[in-house]
Amino acid sequence: MGRFIYADNAATTRLLPEVLDKMMPYLTEQYGNPSSLYSFGQTARQAVDESRDTVAKYLNCRSDEVFFTSGGSEADNWAIRMAADALSKKGKKHIISTAFEHHAVLHTLKALEKQGFEITLLPVYEKGIVQTEDLKQALRPDTALVTVMFANNEIGTIQPISEIGAICREMGVLFHTDAVQAVGHIPVDFAGMNIDMLSLAAHKFHGPKGVGALIIRKGLRFPNLIEGGAQEKGRRAGTENTAGIVGLAEALKLANVDMDKNTTPMIVKRDRLISGLLKSVERSRLNGDPINRLPSNVNISFEGIEGESLLLLLDFKGICASSGSACTSGSLDPSHVLLSIGLPHSIAHGSLRLSLSEDITDDDIDTMLEVIPPIINRLRDISPLWEKIVKGEDFE
Ligand SMILES: Cc1ncc(COP(=O)(O)O)c(C=O)c1O
Repeated sequence: MGRFIYADNAATTRLLPEVLDKMMPYLTEQYGNPSSLYSFGQTARQAVDESRDTVAKYLNCRSDEVFFTSGGSEADNWAIRMAADALSKKGKKHIISTAFEHHAVLHTLKALEKQGFEITLLPVYEKGIVQTEDLKQALRPDTALVTVMFANNEIGTIQPISEIGAICREMGVLFHTDAVQAVGHIPVDFAGMNIDMLSLAAHKFHGPKGVGALIIRKGLRFPNLIEGGAQEKGRRAGTENTAGIVGLAEALKLANVDMDKNTTPMIVKRDRLISGLLKSVERSRLNGDPINRLPSNVNISFEGIEGESLLLLLDFKGICASSGSACTSGSLDPSHVLLSIGLPHSIAHGSLRLSLSEDITDDDIDTMLEVIPPIINRLRDISPLWEKIVKGEDFE
């Protein structure tokens, strides 16, 4: 494949060669089982232990609070289900979350609702940010859990996690955050932010796919996720994915060491892309707060077009982008995230998410600014919806 611009880093990221180098021995010569007692197995055990220490160091938690999983979805399911299971036995069957969580959270909550839990979804308003006043109002004596994402995967807005953590700790309510989009991109401080459980996935910060972690505050006693061997202190049995775990830790280390170096120029590029697109395309709008957002995230709605058609035409030009989250593409319903910030269906359909990485150059930004506006104009030329918008007709 020739040169292309990969602007879909919220879906997944490129595995860094340095990360692969660290993983390689555990995919080849060092194939021992970390549970084996002979020294060949113990080499793998040491790699897993050291990786756990690295995760603890960069997220400010204890090593024995780190539980490796297969990724973000598993960590979200585990956190929510185990909290629900344990606390419902104490008569607590109310869970608070937000309207724009990832489906790994929302669908788990839906399943719990069918089992008799009551779910309150907080609004996120036009800017895509939860208001702590709403949380305070929603808390009840039977609230078992608050689960609020750290940063949104579609519009990139960053939530007031420290404040939410402080409120929950004061009220004695468990707090889980889906930090899949935040870890490795913005500072995350598990202990300092009063978080009880935190989900992450390595492939969102240049690590391998199929490995993640759930950080569980020490002292929380909950049911195990997978029964079997003694791995992950017996709470999530199964032979460890040694190479994946080593890759996760190395990617997390590199992301944190280079965070400032990566973030500052990315914000400049992000803002140039946003202002350039808004300026050159009439009837376009930025979705989500302009400042309180991930350094990588651009999400713009263009009236009168279909996001899917835009993605296809961008693909012809070698630009990889998304019109919602990777998990919702393939469905024709507008994204629940865009609806949660109050966009009407017609505008939500014409949305484009460009998520940057350190690999995106200034030339790439120039190319996107050159290529995208004419494609939108082309789509509008053949759009009956655009014709109605221009004539000022009512179409909703
Ligand atoms: C916010 C958020 N949570 C959870 C997930 C699921 O992570 P994984 O695909 O590693 O299971 C994603 C992935 O897109 C995400 O963006």
